[in-house]
Amino acid sequence: MTRRKLLITGGAGFIGGNFVRYMVDKYPDYDIYNLDLLTYAGDLSKHQNIEKKTNYHFIQCDIANREGIFNRFKNEKFDFIVHFAAESHVDRSITDPEIFIKTNVMGTQILLDAAKEYNVSKFLHVSTDEVYGELDFNPSTFFTEETPLQPNSPYSASKASSDLLVRAYHETYGLPVNITRCSNNYGPYHFPEKLIPLTISRVLNDQTVPVYGNGANIRDWLHVFDHCTALDLVLHEGKDGEVYNVGGHNERTNLEVVKTIIKALDKSNDLIEFVEDRLGHDKRYAIDPTKLEALGWDPTYNFDTGIEQTIEWYLSNKEWWESIISGEYREYFKKQYSVK
Ligand code: NAD
Ligand code: DAU
Repeated sequence: MTRRKLLITGGAGFIGGNFVRYMVDKYPDYDIYNLDLLTYAGDLSKHQNIEKKTNYHFIQCDIANREGIFNRFKNEKFDFIVHFAAESHVDRSITDPEIFIKTNVMGTQILLDAAKEYNVSKFLHVSTDEVYGELDFNPSTFFTEETPLQPNSPYSASKASSDLLVRAYHETYGLPVNITRCSNNYGPYHFPEKLIPLTISRVLNDQTVPVYGNGANIRDWLHVFDHCTALDLVLHEGKDGEVYNVGGHNERTNLEVVKTIIKALDKSNDLIEFVEDRLGHDKRYAIDPTKLEALGWDPTYNFDTGIEQTIEWYLSNKEWWESIISGEYREYFKKQYSVK
């Protein structure tokens, strides 16, 4: 039987990295190619346990480099693609939107061209619930796959643009695609610029935690391992051309999230510092996952069990996040939070 070739873009980042490890272990009969530029958000130290496995391969390449991407497709003849590679941080998109257009829009279009040229059998585009914009605080409203796209940040606008290109390549050229739109992830190897790992790392160092505005904004948190099982399912069972929302009904205000972590680490709420609000800060995200559940998806973690596992992981893997916060991240933090 010929081995199938799976290309995972952005597999040195947070979610892509967890997905690479999950797939390498689960599918020894697939050849898995992790293609990543290794920006500030990518690192390969997280793959030490799999790098010697014969079904794992790494390619360093920019998805916005057409020649580089086409050469790879020509050489490897990938069967399917799961596309994570992106600029992913909303705050960075507010300060510097341009790279978000280059990577998230142009990079996706180049991958779509290559997938079309080399007849891949599935292009799974990993998108976000942020493309739907924001919900109000009425707890009975949710994002469904039919919710109109109304992105509010340069990041979410770039993701919505890439979603529309993926849809267009299906409608125009018949490319077999799926789009998944997941809520906020958390778990191992989450880069410490994002709320949960930022809070854990700062609380462990007895540093203040910056909470934007009044902390009442709501996010719907999903453990990254549950996102991985959802993507595996859609890759193999998703109906061509369909969009699937991913989320597990775990809504929390930002203040609740921060207080939960502080309590679990036995520290004081005095560490909370309310700071200037994010520009265009979306009020609330909440996913209706009915369509994915009908495909057979059943998440393992709720927020209580997931945050416990995550805090344990950060306690046991200090060397990973300490090396990040001691590098160029320090300059980013000072600039973002106007620290003198
Ligand atoms: P991340 O920032 O942790 O990782 C992004 C990865 O992409 C990094 O390894 C980086 O080196 C790589 N990359 C960036 N630009 C590249 C380029 N030009 N060419 C090749 N590689 C490049 O991101 P994440 O949080 O793991 O998110 C992954 C994907 O999932 C993104 O597409 C994001 O929009 C989506 N998503 C994220 C969340 C979340 O909560 N983090 C939720 C839903 C969807
Ligand atoms: O919903 C999915 C999205 O979730 C993904 O598409 C994005 O890639 C991912 O970064 C995430 O976006 P958010 O903006 O929701 O995540 P972030 O961790 O940056 O912020 C979560 C909430 O916490 C948000 O309401 C802003 C707030 N926040 C964030 C930071 C970094 C703070 O109050 N203080 C902070 O210092």
